[in-house]
Amino acid sequence: MGKKSTDNKGNVAVLLSGRGSNFVSILQYSRREKSNFNVSLVISDNEASQGLKRARQEGLLALFVNPAAFSDRFGFETEICRHLIAHQIRLVCLAGYMRIVGKTLLNQFPEQILNIHPSLLPAFPGLNAQKQALDWGVRVSGCTVHFVDSGTDSGPIILQKAVPIFNEDDVDALSARILAEEHRIYPLAISLYFSGHLTKQGRRVKINQ
Ligand code: GRF
Repeated sequence: MGKKSTDNKGNVAVLLSGRGSNFVSILQYSRREKSNFNVSLVISDNEASQGLKRARQEGLLALFVNPAAFSDRFGFETEICRHLIAHQIRLVCLAGYMRIVGKTLLNQFPEQILNIHPSLLPAFPGLNAQKQALDWGVRVSGCTVHFVDSGTDSGPIILQKAVPIFNEDDVDALSARILAEEHRIYPLAISLYFSGHLTKQGRRVKINQ
């Protein structure tokens, strides 16, 4: 897992739809001296997204791919794949990307697409994970970085981090506590991916030191 480019750093593309705070944490980590990956490309399906704007301010190649310009998901994802291939992307990181990933992307990038989800999967997949956790009454929630498969937030898990839930928590308070951990574990998972220390047996991802 994790072939690198000729400068010996893995080329990462970030796909996002909104705010882009995970993208920023990934970018900042990638700019550390000893990082083993570059953010080479940002793609958004939302022209107005904060994340796309920020990527351009950071001087990155940041593309809007308009879903409305394609008659189906195949056409839309084929266009995304064209950009990913042209820029020799080795890992695709979904960061608040609000679309289901289809067969076209999955087949082109097998085991090369990661996602971050704001719960301890397999609990609370899908939308509004923080509200789901509060409504259920769990004492602990957190975040998960996982490989993307054809299901919803169902792929093999790379890293997780737990956070406590307190009596006075509302969705905003819990989301903020989880987000701070998302910003830590997503770059770490990417770094592990390119370190060559990850191996996968069935659903189980092992971190070999
Ligand atoms: C995060 O909570 C992430 O877990 C979920 O979408 C949100 C994206 O936030 N997949 P941001 O755009 O990275 O700030």
